Amino acid sequence: MIIETVVTTLNEDGSVNLAPMGPVVDTDWSEFELRPFETSSTLENLKRSGQGIVHITDDVELIVRAATHQLLELPALEAGRQVDVPAICGACRWFEFRVESIIELIPRVSIRCRTVYEHRNRDFIGFNRAKNAVLEAAILATRLDFLPLVEVVEQYRRYETVIEKTGGDQERDAFELLKKLIERLQANAQAK
Ligand SMILES: Cc1cc2nc3c(=O)[nH]c(=O)nc-3n(C[C@H](O)[C@H](O)[C@H](O)COP(=O)(O)O)c2cc1C
Repeated sequence: MIIETVVTTLNEDGSVNLAPMGPVVDTDWSEFELRPFETSSTLENLKRSGQGIVHITDDVELIVRAATHQLLELPALEAGRQVDVPAICGACRWFEFRVESIIELIPRVSIRCRTVYEHRNRDFIGFNRAKNAVLEAAILATRLDFLPLVEVVEQYRRYETVIEKTGGDQERDAFELLKKLIERLQANAQAK
């Protein structure tokens, strides 16, 4: 099963990197596989330091901002207990991990990870169609290099209806960020 998470790692200069990633997990999370694209900074950081923290969160605005490089500031962080990487204080649960092995597959590298410390912080809010739609929209926004823009625009129309009906402010704000990004790309494409 793939669970959508946010991964923290340390960049070479010691700053914190946040990236949404979908690890393949068993239900107990003792081991899992991360599958970053070759271009990802998370991959580079994990190759260098071999450690990170995977967070389960229901904060879709954080996911959108991290995925599209629109984080105005980092969320509140606290020191990891077993790894030298900080955790996101507002996340529901997190798993501090160490890299066990890296297999250089194309286009996604396979990284086997072992959990070395688990933290439970707060309850997950529950299933929400708008949150799910924002997640799907965010994934499309990170694949614009190889997805036709017209298809993405069409999907966004469907997501908008669900988000309007079932979302709260966080989901609407997060979707607005994504829509603006797509609109900018559309305007650029039309100007060419
Ligand atoms: C819900 C979600 C799941 C994602 N899962 C992955 C993933 O498993 N692997 C990956 O390389 N990118 C994934 N992405 C895209 C990355 O988050 C995005 O490319 C990000 O900019 C990579 O950040 P980084 O370069 O700091 O690692 C996902 C995006 C979203 C919104």
